[in-house]
Amino acid sequence: MPDAVAAMTGRDRFLAALRRQPVDATPVWFMRQAGRSLPEYRALRARHDFMTMATTPELAATATLMPVARLGVDAAVLFADIMLPLAGMGVSFEIRPNAGPVIPEPIRSEADVARLRVADAEASTPYVFAALRLLRRELGDTTALLGFAGAPFTLACYLIEGKASREFPRAKALMYGRPDLWRRLMEVLTETTIGYLNGQIAAGADAVQLFDSWLGLLGPEAYRKHVLPYTRRIFAALPTYVPAIHFSTGSVALLDQIAASGCAAVSVDWRLPLDAAWERIGQGLAIQGNLDPTMLLTDWETTRDGALDVLARAAGRPGHVFNLGHGVLPETDPDRLARLVALVHGHASDGA
Ligand code: CP3
Repeated sequence: MPDAVAAMTGRDRFLAALRRQPVDATPVWFMRQAGRSLPEYRALRARHDFMTMATTPELAATATLMPVARLGVDAAVLFADIMLPLAGMGVSFEIRPNAGPVIPEPIRSEADVARLRVADAEASTPYVFAALRLLRRELGDTTALLGFAGAPFTLACYLIEGKASREFPRAKALMYGRPDLWRRLMEVLTETTIGYLNGQIAAGADAVQLFDSWLGLLGPEAYRKHVLPYTRRIFAALPTYVPAIHFSTGSVALLDQIAASGCAAVSVDWRLPLDAAWERIGQGLAIQGNLDPTMLLTDWETTRDGALDVLARAAGRPGHVFNLGHGVLPETDPDRLARLVALVHGHASDGA
């Protein structure tokens, strides 16, 4: 191991990989590591509802730190939700157990869109920034602190549909059929997201991830016309010293365009092998991924072989952050996650 990269902290390792610099071991964290499979999270959640946890800085910080202590991951992802900044736009929402976000009055008409305003991040989500400041102090230099936001397209899916959906037909119909309304909605979401992410950076986030979870619903033309301009605007509005990760799933057909969005790293799912995905996005960007989370529901040998395959395809090239292709499934055994972290950290890419 070269001296220059010996004994890195998790924070160093995670940020170096996002900057495509050499690391002493592949950094690893898991999407949805904070809120799903940990029994200590469930115990805390049994005493407080989700919104109370998310809006109470001490509780949000506690939930954020749980997977760091138990799993040994290199990055802590803020305990929050993509819906939180919408309140400041004048949208009320609920987070229902097992159902996810519900918008009692969905945004569907010209008047609905006209009522929306760009959120003042400090005024509407001060608890998010307070949690980040607490976490920054708590984590020091040992573990990276990752902020996040939902991307305008994915937020618009919920805003228009009003709830989770397989195909988000109302949202897509508004996008195709009322491009004028869509544009205004995306503008407000884009400006809100910029303020929200910059607030998180000012409060101590080392890096940020933009979750465009439902991008796989779009073809390349629709993406180019109705989504990419806003994504680009968001990445361009963040300070260049803060690496930004673009997340989506099912977006194989969009990878070339995502690579040109201005992000530092592209998070990819398992639908393409990691090396093929990296080829598509180009070696000039870092890559995050891409183990299928259902592999963790099998025996350890299957999980291990899947992870080793991901690492072999990364082939020790600078710029790989190990992760799953989507969030941790609730039924995942936390011991399996911890064992996977140890495997990734112990793996020598040169076969030594
Ligand atoms: O590791 C973490 O869990 C960190 C915090 C986090 C939450 N949501 C907490 C949460 C993060 C990073 C998110 C992101 C999020 N939220 C996304 C993007 C990521 C992805 O999976 O694609 C999306 C699409 C949402 C919207 C959302 N919020 C859904 C679909 C749900 C349903 C249930 C679930 O767990 O996915 C939520 C609710 C939610 N967000 C919970 C948690 C812990 C469960 C609420 C509860 O405890 O009742």
